[in-house]
Amino acid sequence: MSEKLRVGVIFGGRSGEHEVSIASAASVLKALDADKYEVVPIGITGEGHWLAGVDPQPLLQGATMEDAVQKGEATAVTMTGDPTSRGLVPVESPDDDPDAGGQHPQRPLDIVIPVLHGTYGEDGTLQGLLEMADVAYAGCGVLGAALGMDKDKAKMVFRTAGLPIVDWLTIRRVEFERDPEAVCARIAERFPGAVFVKPANMGSSVGVGKAHNAEELPGVVAEALQFDRKAIVEPAINCRELECGVLGNDEPIASVVGEVVPSNEFYDYRAKYVDNASRLYIPAEIPPETMETLRRLAVDAFLALDLSGLARVDFFLDKDSGQVYLNEVNTMPGFTQISMYPKLWEASGVPYPQLLDRLIQLGLERHAEKRRNRTRYSPEE
Ligand SMILES: Nc1ncnc2c1ncn2[C@@H]1O[C@H](COP(=O)(O)OP(=O)(O)O)[C@@H](O)[C@H]1O
Ligand SMILES: [Mg+2]
Repeated sequence: MSEKLRVGVIFGGRSGEHEVSIASAASVLKALDADKYEVVPIGITGEGHWLAGVDPQPLLQGATMEDAVQKGEATAVTMTGDPTSRGLVPVESPDDDPDAGGQHPQRPLDIVIPVLHGTYGEDGTLQGLLEMADVAYAGCGVLGAALGMDKDKAKMVFRTAGLPIVDWLTIRRVEFERDPEAVCARIAERFPGAVFVKPANMGSSVGVGKAHNAEELPGVVAEALQFDRKAIVEPAINCRELECGVLGNDEPIASVVGEVVPSNEFYDYRAKYVDNASRLYIPAEIPPETMETLRRLAVDAFLALDLSGLARVDFFLDKDSGQVYLNEVNTMPGFTQISMYPKLWEASGVPYPQLLDRLIQLGLERHAEKRRNRTRYSPEE
């Protein structure tokens, strides 16, 4: 019998960032220390089907998760919220020997790493299921994940916490569909220049657009509202983009700050993942005092949203005014070996495999901490 910690790595998912998640998971699986962990890769298809034993690597070359089922490598499983049924339940092949290949889910998982970006993974929904099942997991809890995902609500909390943010307006699909002219007029009145429009709940720049003028606005708004029933509108800032890694639970620490120089007019999906021409500078070439300000703001943002485990906190530095703005947090940032978050930690003295060890440890600590809470009460006691 193995004494290794049994780690489920969940990836894919019902999200516009499905492919990005597969790339992150391939790196994570490669780097998890096989001497310490028995790893169960769990792919979730674009339709939401859970499959244990899927290797993400071939998916990067065009294979599908269903191919892995056909080959007998993957087993359908379902996640239940019932702790007594041990969370993850095999749907097929109930005779699988749990000690045979290490890919089968009968033995309970000690911890899950949700390497999922975007909806149904980074937004608190999966976290809720794992909480119900009493399964430990790496990363943010339900509230932190949900707040981190919702750009509108995150900004409300940041504003309340006194953190510097770009002013914004929230618009809803229902009002835009009813009266697009009125919505565009309201935006133009509030922000007369160029604006960014972004789905409130999304990431990887999916659905994000820049309207340079009033003519472009309706199309950009319509695009953003395809991905969520809410979108946020912000004035466009002529900015440098700076990012900081945060790691920890109740006493988080910040990494060095890095800079992204996008290959396009802004850091859109192509510039992030397709054209390979955006540049990362770690550490960013900024004055030491700006670096310290950003690191402090990153920890403040982390605590304001009640995050845990990890987050990448992204900033804009206004090239014209020098003003720093907190843009957004990513509670499951891109996690390939060459992604910003792992590279920031590498530059701060935490190499990739140790970063994974730390995230697992933080997830276990958080789970243990929550178990200390009483869930029964009787006034006579
Ligand atoms: N107000 C803004 N001013 C200038 N650029 C912006 C603004 N908002 C977004 N962008 C650009 O769009 C990119 C994606 O927006 P962001 O808010 O980070 O959403 P996502 O969650 O999709 O990464 C940013 O990295 C930046 O390049
Ligand atoms: Mg971003």
